Amino acid sequence: MTAKELRGKYLEFFKARGHAVIPSASLVPQNDPTVLFTTAGMQPLVPYLLGEKHPQGKRLVNVQKCLRTNDIDEVGDATHGTFFEMLGNWSLGDYFKKESLSWSYEFLTSPEWLGLDKNRLAVSVFAGDDDAPFDEEAFEIWRSLGISEKRITRLPKENNWWGPAGETGPCGPDSEIFYWTGAPDQVPESFNDDNDLWVEIWNNVFMQYNKNIKGSFEPLAQKNVDTGLGLERALVTLNGYDEIYKIDVIRPIIEKIEEISGKKYDETISEIPLNPPFTKGGNQKAMRIVADHLKASAFLIADGVEPSNTERGYVLRRLIRRAVRYGRQLGIEGIFCFKIARVAIEIYKDIYPELSREENSIEEQLTKEEEKFAKTLESGLKQFENVKIKIKNDSAKSGIISGEIAFNLYQTYGFPVELTKELAKEAGLEVDEEKFKDEMKRHQELSRAGAEQKFKGGLADHSEQTVKYHTAAHLLLAALRQTLGGDVNQRGANITSERLRFDFSHPQKMTPEQIKEVEDLVNEKIKEDLPVACEEMALDEAKAKGATGIFDSKYGERVKVYTIGSPSTGPSTGSGQCSGSAAFSREICGGPHVERTGVLGNFKIVKEESCSAGVRRIKAVLK
Ligand code: SER
Repeated sequence: MTAKELRGKYLEFFKARGHAVIPSASLVPQNDPTVLFTTAGMQPLVPYLLGEKHPQGKRLVNVQKCLRTNDIDEVGDATHGTFFEMLGNWSLGDYFKKESLSWSYEFLTSPEWLGLDKNRLAVSVFAGDDDAPFDEEAFEIWRSLGISEKRITRLPKENNWWGPAGETGPCGPDSEIFYWTGAPDQVPESFNDDNDLWVEIWNNVFMQYNKNIKGSFEPLAQKNVDTGLGLERALVTLNGYDEIYKIDVIRPIIEKIEEISGKKYDETISEIPLNPPFTKGGNQKAMRIVADHLKASAFLIADGVEPSNTERGYVLRRLIRRAVRYGRQLGIEGIFCFKIARVAIEIYKDIYPELSREENSIEEQLTKEEEKFAKTLESGLKQFENVKIKIKNDSAKSGIISGEIAFNLYQTYGFPVELTKELAKEAGLEVDEEKFKDEMKRHQELSRAGAEQKFKGGLADHSEQTVKYHTAAHLLLAALRQTLGGDVNQRGANITSERLRFDFSHPQKMTPEQIKEVEDLVNEKIKEDLPVACEEMALDEAKAKGATGIFDSKYGERVKVYTIGSPSTGPSTGSGQCSGSAAFSREICGGPHVERTGVLGNFKIVKEESCSAGVRRIKAVLK
């Protein structure tokens, strides 16, 4: 089965059961400061799980692109990857456990759908603790569906509780479905968590709690269902493969790496010569890392991430640099990352059009980062080799690479500390990470002074402030359009509780006068204490009313439109409108927003700079 077939079947199944298909959101969470990346399909839906009304209704289904980097060191084995797609269906206070579990079971086992062997399935349910009781309801549902009691395992919170994705947010007990990947005639009578041949394929979460900043679980007013079925893993299972790198959305990337390197995936190198100083490894591991990391990098860049030394940018940098290092290990010479990313773009462009749209910036960013790192990689590796020999010969050093050395490799040769750790591990050494962090801190102290202070606020305040910035972003876009012209469109936004970063299309640098004009206009609208109104309408209607919105493909048929200034109809930037009654801003947006602009405080643009060709970036704060 191909990825396309599986996505199609899944959406079709849930559409037939009253679910609206919603598009995949960005890998960069839009209004959620609690997480760095979208790691699950439920994440962009947090406001709706907490009770806000979703314009598409109470039953939703989609395919969501996700990135998880917690197991990045495991990538290279048969099963781990950083980028993946998650098939998910949701009930927002609508159906609950019975429908959810029955549908999952039907989709997996019915010959009309996936037709998996019922006898190879096992499930787990939440065993219960002080926060929530044993999930007897799920247990009974599974029994009534015909799963033998021995295959229904009760597991504690560490196994059978999902979320929140960040520190706070919706969560609840879950029920996981496992498939026996061993010999069909050797299915054990009962499920055993330690046996890797039982592979988890689907997770049904009953999101009925909200974990608050104090760490306690408050029951939610609405009982939700959040399910997640990993596409790659399901394809491996359905096709009877022994690794994810055989499925159709990855295989062509591996083949391209074979072509470029002139090496074979299946051929293992037992020992690689010491100069360049690469240690033991295999083509397989290296090719898997290159394939996974560059695919993930292409998706990240398409969603607006650029390599840097902090947060998302740092993760991207690590992915690219690790891919470059393994590419060299495979003997690939010259700039190669984009050649591989291009295959990923080809594979996914129909379902994720942002990849083709951003193809130029994917090429530009990958190549820039690769060139930068390629210059220092070889000398850094030589340096590492010297260090290694010294440490090995000096028993006083007890196999530890000091913080200073790791920092020097980072500072001078651009080695992310994780890369140094990986090299150290291969050489049987360790890195003194604590001291490395101290070194980092010492060097960052000056630039970071005061940053710590600002983080003190705590999460409750955090999100309130974030919502304010979100509304400020709408005012900013409207002010830019009014000042610079209606050609200005939003190209991206990144909001934290501390600042707003806003990218928009505009060919020239803004003049100081224009910056001042925009700033004044936003502040004027804040002073006017305008109401922020939300209406639901068809996408076409929203467009007809002149609503702005960034990525068309992100929206389904019915959308929420936030209007600032006037709840009446009429375009926000049309001519001939009486400025007193026309809306100042009208945007298609999922929210949330403040109720009136008066609470925002003073708006200040702190920076206006170039972001990429034809795109400017503004950084602004509310004081
Ligand atoms: N949020 C759950 C998971 O990621 C189910 O979608 O497994």
